[in-house]
This record gives sequence, C-alpha cells and structure tokens, in this order.
Amino acid sequence: MQSAENHIAFIENVRDRFESALIAHVEAASKGENGEIMGLAREVLMAGGKRWRPILLLLSYQLAGGKVESEAMPLALAFEMIHTATLVHDDINDGAKFRRNVPTLHERYDTARALIAGDYLFVEGFGLGGRYEEQIVRLISGYCAQIASAELMQLRHVGNLATTPEDYYEIISGKTAGPFAAGCTAAALVAGSSPELAEILGQFGLELGLAFQIVDDLLDLEGDERMGKPRGADVIEGKMTLPLIHSLTLSHGDDRRRLADVISGFHDGLWDELTELLNRAGSFGYAQTLTNNHLERAIDALLQFPKCEARDALEWLTKQVMDRHE
Ligand code: IPE
Ligand code: IPE
Ligand code: MG
Ligand code: MG
Repeated sequence: MQSAENHIAFIENVRDRFESALIAHVEAASKGENGEIMGLAREVLMAGGKRWRPILLLLSYQLAGGKVESEAMPLALAFEMIHTATLVHDDINDGAKFRRNVPTLHERYDTARALIAGDYLFVEGFGLGGRYEEQIVRLISGYCAQIASAELMQLRHVGNLATTPEDYYEIISGKTAGPFAAGCTAAALVAGSSPELAEILGQFGLELGLAFQIVDDLLDLEGDERMGKPRGADVIEGKMTLPLIHSLTLSHGDDRRRLADVISGFHDGLWDELTELLNRAGSFGYAQTLTNNHLERAIDALLQFPKCEARDALEWLTKQVMDRHE
C-alpha cells in the first residue's frame, strides 16, 4: 500500500503540469489581439481554483490507458475555462461578492464586463475542446446545455419550500455532476478506451460530482474559510440545498413553522437557530450519509479498473471529498 504522500505528490505533479499549460495558454492569449479581454478573464482564471476538473480528467486519461498527456491537455484546459465561465456568470446571477478569495469581476468592474469575460472564457473553452472528434465535442456541448437547464431549474426553485430531494438531485446532476461525468468520459475516449470503460469512468465522475456538490452545500451552511466566499450565501440566495429540504420534510409542528420562517427571512442573526433546527431534524447527518453513498459508488466504479498509480490517486481524491467536509 502506497502512502498518502505518494498520492499527494502524484496529484501535485499532474496539477503542476496543468498549471504550466494554463499559464502558457493565458500568456500567449494575453499577448495576442484579444489581450484586453484575457486580461480580465485571467483575474479569475488564475486566482487559485482547486482544478478538480482538469486533475480528474488527466488522471482518468491515464487510468483509461492514455500515455501521451499532451493529447488530453487541451481538453483539460477546455473544461477549466468552461467551468470558470460558468462561475463568472453564476456569480452575477447570485450577486456573489467573492470567488476564489478575490472580488468577483462584476464587483470589481461591472456586470457588462463580467458577462463579456464569461462569454470569452466559454468561447476559449470551446476553441480548445473543438479540436477533438465529434463525439467529444457533443459531450461538451451536451453538458454545457445541461448546466443551463439546471441553472434555470434552480432559479425556479429559489425560496420554494416544497422543493423535493428529486428536484435537488436533478439540479446538481446538471450543474455539477454532469460536467464531472463528461470530463471523465471524454478523457477515457481520448485515451482510446472502449465505450464500456468510458461509461464506467463517467459513472465514477457522476457519483463524485454529486458528492462534491452536496459537500459544497454543507460547507456553505457550516462555514469554512477554504470556501473563498462568506458563509451562508446559499441560504441568503434562497437556494434550496439538501439539509434544508430534508429538515423541512422531517420537522413538524412548531419546528416546521419556525424553520419555514427562518429560511424564508434568513439573516446573519439566525445562524444558531437554523443550525439547531437542522441538527434536531438530523439533516446534516442525512446529507453526510448520502455523500458517503455516492463516494462508495464512485470507488466501486474505480475498482473495475486494474490497480495503478492513477487509480490510487483517483481513489485518494475521492476520499478527499469527505475529508474536505470533516
Ligand atoms: C465551484 O466549484 C462550483 C461548484 C460546482 C461547487 P469548485 O469548488 O470546483 O471551484 P474552484 O474551481 O475550486 O474555484
Ligand atoms: C456553481 O453553482 C455554478 C455552476 C456549477 C454552474 P453554485 O451557485 O451552487 O456554486 P457556488 O456556491 O456559487 O460556488
Ligand atoms: Mg453561486
Ligand atoms: Mg454553493
């Protein structure tokens, strides 16, 4: 059994190679005819994202038998650019003030510039992803369309106390797990793997992505300085996340009435009360149990591949989603 240090070093190397490719791409674009807009986009692109999507993609490529990393690098860049584009636009819609520990573009400049920077990042992403064969390009456009649909659905459910776990799952499948799944599947296809194995890697990405978003939502409720944005942004936005949905379903009587009032009229002074109500309903535990189930399924998918460094690293990363929360 290899030690955690080995997995960390292995992943850090992948991250470093991705970071170098990203810097090279950004530098080249900054010197070109679109230098001004890349100047804006790079403020958020280079502000220190965790790079989960490109790392997962590059490790999936290796796990699927890929040997020439440069073959998958434009795809990894495409996924990170598109992800960053969605963040820039999402922050406008959510009125978010911080992202990746720096002020959001619409706060620093204005909405028009942030919109344009987001558009540019999307286009850059498609320019990079469009180099691949049609099947891959379709995967990319497919998951981007699903993000848009999921964002629309989420908007419809803002402040809707009748939101069900099924609604929540549909939203997070589209906005977060779909992109994870598409990245892992596309990486496997670029590596030349069979459709069956590409599908299993897609399943891994999907389960991991679901867990990733549930944990992200839990961290928002619990407050965590690593989030790069203030605690409780989701509740203030009226976003119905799993612990809220669960507690609204399970509570009754006075607790249920109070919960509805606290969620609907949330402000900073209500933190302790909300936390207490969620604890009483067992809603944090519920979200943690579901997270664990998804992570177990993600690992089951991984174990269908032969043991190798990339598989160990992916398994280690999967466990980090839980540790990120503990
Ligand atoms: C933020 O994604 C949006 C979610 C889907 C939770 P990340 O948590 O991966 O954000 P960065 O890229 O590290 O900033
Ligand atoms: C992130 O969604 C944006 C997309 C995945 C499109 P959220 O609004 O839930 O993420 P945060 O909380 O702003 O990072
Ligand atoms: Mg948001
Ligand atoms: Mg969130």
